[in-house]
Amino acid sequence: MRAVLCSKFEGADALELGEAPEPVPAADEVLIEVHAAAVSFMDKLMAEGGYQLRPELPYVPGTDAAGIVLQVGSEVIDFKPGDRVVGQMWHGSYAERAVTKHWKCAKVPESVDLTVASTVLHNYMTAYHALVQRCALRPGETLLVTGATGGVGLAAVDMGRMLGVRVLAGTGDTAKMSALQEAGADAVVNMREGDLRKQIQDLTDGNGLDVCFEMIGGDTFVKIARSMRWGGRITPIGFVSGEIPNLPMNLPLLKGFSVVGVFEGAWAEKFPSEAKDAADKIMNWIAEGELRPLIDRVLKLEDASEAFRSLNEREVIGRIVLQV
Ligand SMILES: NC(=O)c1ccc[n+]([C@@H]2O[C@H](COP(=O)([O-])OP(=O)(O)OC[C@H]3O[C@@H](n4cnc5c(N)ncnc54)[C@H](OP(=O)(O)O)[C@@H]3O)[C@@H](O)[C@H]2O)c1
Repeated sequence: MRAVLCSKFEGADALELGEAPEPVPAADEVLIEVHAAAVSFMDKLMAEGGYQLRPELPYVPGTDAAGIVLQVGSEVIDFKPGDRVVGQMWHGSYAERAVTKHWKCAKVPESVDLTVASTVLHNYMTAYHALVQRCALRPGETLLVTGATGGVGLAAVDMGRMLGVRVLAGTGDTAKMSALQEAGADAVVNMREGDLRKQIQDLTDGNGLDVCFEMIGGDTFVKIARSMRWGGRITPIGFVSGEIPNLPMNLPLLKGFSVVGVFEGAWAEKFPSEAKDAADKIMNWIAEGELRPLIDRVLKLEDASEAFRSLNEREVIGRIVLQV
């Protein structure tokens, strides 16, 4: 079958359209005819060799696939051939066909386009797991999302808006600020210029943040940790700056906030039925128009390298989708 192959851990330059072996579903797996595959930072990081999981080379990248069920394994009773479906996987979606565990899949309601559906699980499951399950976000609280213009960040902004919290959204690019306001941010924080702590203090009347969904890492994480309010929760979601932060532990002690770990992929594997319920719930919210995923652009499968380069250049708002 036609697939994007990564044959060296060299990111965009190592991707090539080629032929991959046909995937065969195991007893608890679903074989999907892929129509659309979203492109994430994690896909790019894995193809650069920088992710905690390094697949055997060559491999097919891609964490999210939307399409039609072609075949199911002998133990699968919740899906059948012909179902419209989305599936999450560690890699394998940039291809004509992909397999994943049935509990990593959700049915796609008729009203939701498959291109849109492909952008949902990685982004919104992370936002849901972090904000609802790990941080117990409450209506009226103030949430800061950093890296807010990316796929995961916009999902967190959208989820925060839906849950009735006050959303502050961070970007390092002033040209992207209006997109964040349109997505429902109550205020935008400039991550590149100005004093970050002062901006947060001004926007919270000196009270600090209840919750931060933090994706930049390095010094940014530490500055924000200094701006948490008593009882606050800060989640290290990712480190797009490339720097894992070192937090002086007197800060959570003195300021009474918590650092809350979030690893959506591991949670989904440890608690599959909980994750499946969350995926179904999110799909319904999207069908009902409560959540509104944002697609930056749709490219062809052979343009996967271009998609990775656009992520490197920070030219993306929401998700790029590869049409298969
Ligand atoms: N913990 C989990 O369970 C989990 C699950 C899924 C993803 N993640 C992580 O979440 C992070 C975001 O993923 P994503 O797919 O949403 O990424 P993305 O679409 O590339 O978005 C990241 C955003 O961060 C900003 N950014 C990019 N490079 C930067 C840099 N060097 N310094 C500062 N800001 C930078 C950009 O915004 P501006 O240009 O607007 O500033 C960009 O839009 C990744 O680290 C990913 O691995 C974690």
